[in-house]
Amino acid sequence: MKLPGLIDVHTHLRVPGGEHKEDFATGTAAALAGGFTLILAMPNTTPPLVTAEVLQATRQQAQQTILCDVGLVAGASPEQLDSLPAVAAQAVALKIYLNETFGPLRVEDLATLLTCFQTWPRSKIIAMHAEGPNVAVGLGLAAAYQRPVHFCHVSRKAEIELIAAAKKQGLPVTCEVTPHHLFMTGPDTERIGSLADMRPKLATQADVDTLWSHLNTTIDCIATDHAPHTLAEKHSPNPPPGVPGLETALPLMLTAVREGRLTLERLIDLMHTNPRRIFNLPEQPNTYLEVDPEVRYTISNDELQTKCGWTPFDGVTVIGRVQRVVLRGQTAYDAGQPDISCRILVKPGSGRVIP
Ligand code: DOR
Ligand code: ZN
Ligand code: ZN
Repeated sequence: MKLPGLIDVHTHLRVPGGEHKEDFATGTAAALAGGFTLILAMPNTTPPLVTAEVLQATRQQAQQTILCDVGLVAGASPEQLDSLPAVAAQAVALKIYLNETFGPLRVEDLATLLTCFQTWPRSKIIAMHAEGPNVAVGLGLAAAYQRPVHFCHVSRKAEIELIAAAKKQGLPVTCEVTPHHLFMTGPDTERIGSLADMRPKLATQADVDTLWSHLNTTIDCIATDHAPHTLAEKHSPNPPPGVPGLETALPLMLTAVREGRLTLERLIDLMHTNPRRIFNLPEQPNTYLEVDPEVRYTISNDELQTKCGWTPFDGVTVIGRVQRVVLRGQTAYDAGQPDISCRILVKPGSGRVIP
């Protein structure tokens, strides 16, 4: 079965400053293994992607090391508002963190939000980490400035219901959900402890059921929020939030297709067509994956390309596997190789930086 190259609009690649967790080569290898040919990298790095200088240096580093296509997302920072126009030229989108999460990037004052909405180019979307009542803040800004806002990793019933109501009123808003918020609930934290800790935190069964009920309507994208941290960090007294997701998103969603929870056409909308349209991303010619929708296998920490080497879905049985990934006519990933280190067939630097 052939699918278009998947697009993940929410990946943490940890460059610069967090290369012990993930780097451009390992993160894009994980993307290819998961069927993604274009991913957007988040700005909560060290230093964060908030100045033209850091963005330019990071783009250069990416160009030498990436295996699939990567776009950088700039971060909003109250101290760097003057940089926004220069930053915009090098980024595909602006990310505003309204809630506490990993790293110091945060916007808590209204004046900064107004400046972002007034100065960021209208041709590029503003994405928000907004939880709870902050979803209403984002909706208010989208309405006041009549410009698109994308809500990252929506996880709760009230949030998705508010976004559905706003869409009904014609507000130009879109949203994504993650596989971990669709396939795990709070009690998973009792099972695997801090390995199930992320922001937004896992929710209740009622929240998860409501997300699923909006999968064919309100939800625009499945995004991984791939957030690798080392096992040592996750098992430390003060574990950072976040879970890797690039290599498990498609098999989990294909399993849901198999179970009749969504159609394959809808999966393609959620993981390719809508991400490309919303973030205004270029077409990747002659780019596709071959998937075997019949193969049943158990996800294992031993079979991952991500540098962090673990997944909260270790031990979960899924149906549907990526066999081969072709990027611009070249086989980039081949699952047929017995040794996982031989499955990546393209050289560092063969991916393209967007824009
Ligand atoms: O769990 C999370 N981890 N949520 C985020 O928003 C950030 C991410 C990270 O960077 O580790
Ligand atoms: Zn976030
Ligand atoms: Zn994130």
